[in-house]
Amino acid sequence: MEQIKVNASKNYIITLDSGFESFKTQVLPLITDNNVAIITDSNVAPLYLDKVKELLVGKRVFSYILPAGEENKNAENYIKIVNFLAESGLNRKSTVIGLGGGVVGDISAFSASTFMRGIKYIAVPTTLLSMVDSSVGGKTGIDLDCGKNLLGTFFQPDAVYINVETLKTLPEREMKSGMGEIMKYAFIDPRITTSDVLSKNFNLIIAKSLKIKRDIVERDEKESGERMLLNFGHTIGHAIEKLYNYKVSHGECVLKGMNYAIKLSNKFGYVNDVDMEFIIDYLNTSGVDLSVPFSKEEIVSAMKSDKKASGDSVNFVFASGLFKLVIRKVKFSEILENL
Ligand code: NAD
Ligand code: GLY
Repeated sequence: MEQIKVNASKNYIITLDSGFESFKTQVLPLITDNNVAIITDSNVAPLYLDKVKELLVGKRVFSYILPAGEENKNAENYIKIVNFLAESGLNRKSTVIGLGGGVVGDISAFSASTFMRGIKYIAVPTTLLSMVDSSVGGKTGIDLDCGKNLLGTFFQPDAVYINVETLKTLPEREMKSGMGEIMKYAFIDPRITTSDVLSKNFNLIIAKSLKIKRDIVERDEKESGERMLLNFGHTIGHAIEKLYNYKVSHGECVLKGMNYAIKLSNKFGYVNDVDMEFIIDYLNTSGVDLSVPFSKEEIVSAMKSDKKASGDSVNFVFASGLFKLVIRKVKFSEILENL
């Protein structure tokens, strides 16, 4: 078992373990009220819901099962969840547990952050992507028709509990999707190397990724500067995700977005041809098909609803040389010219 402390606006501990055994000692004592609601999805519930319920010894446990998929991270389901919390009799001292991937995590944390102006929230991520990224750092939210994650809060969890063994049931395609966010960290911090990323040693990869993210969140929790680096590949990635109508996973779209971002970085003079080829080979080791069936006009038009857009420009994260990043404000017209 490994523990990683996060000192943000709320201090909390991430427990990384191979099993659920330490949940009782590390997490259960934080749940002081009798009422607990587990929010999960239709794929995760048959695999892990009963197990997590069993761990909540002596509690009144209510569970809500969301249909799986990004298209369900929406306002309609958010309202259903908060109504469920109210009808179940949760109060200001109660706890919500988000058991699942980033979709469950984002919508359940958003629900916990707004229900009665904020109650306790514990993240139990079960996808690679949510273990290395979305469960930590306090970004919560849902998608609106206009774009991804447009409604949300910054709200740190009270604890994060990662059972790496849950990855054993994760479909191969979702493992590849998680590699997108992991590959991103190699551009941000030399503590994770490209060979770590390719090692398939998930305990090591998850722990290193979490420490990199933790350090950035501690320095810039509300994304006024450095945290924007975590959006590498995301501005174009989110646009592609929207164009696919959320039928292709977030991590895959981030990888496709990084591929475009590197090519743009080359056009803008930040990465030379040799380094660009090297980086694209690295992205290809994820096994994700980096091609995209949309025109550059469609991509740039979809980018305009990104949260980082302001008027005719956007704060864009470019690659710089081999495995470094730089943020520059660019006009959408410049992106269109160079994409
Ligand atoms: P997801 O939650 O949709 O999970 C992917 C699929 O795996 C789903 O079908 C799910 O039911 C299934 N699944 C989950 N755990 C499983 C397991 N152990 N075994 C079998 N199946 C399992 O997707 P995701 O990739 O985890 O998360 C993507 C979401 O995360 C996006 O909405 C994205 O915007 C968000 N995100 C948020 C942040 C943040 O900081 N808040 C960061 C990155 C991504
Ligand atoms: N995944 C981006 C962030 O947490 O800031």
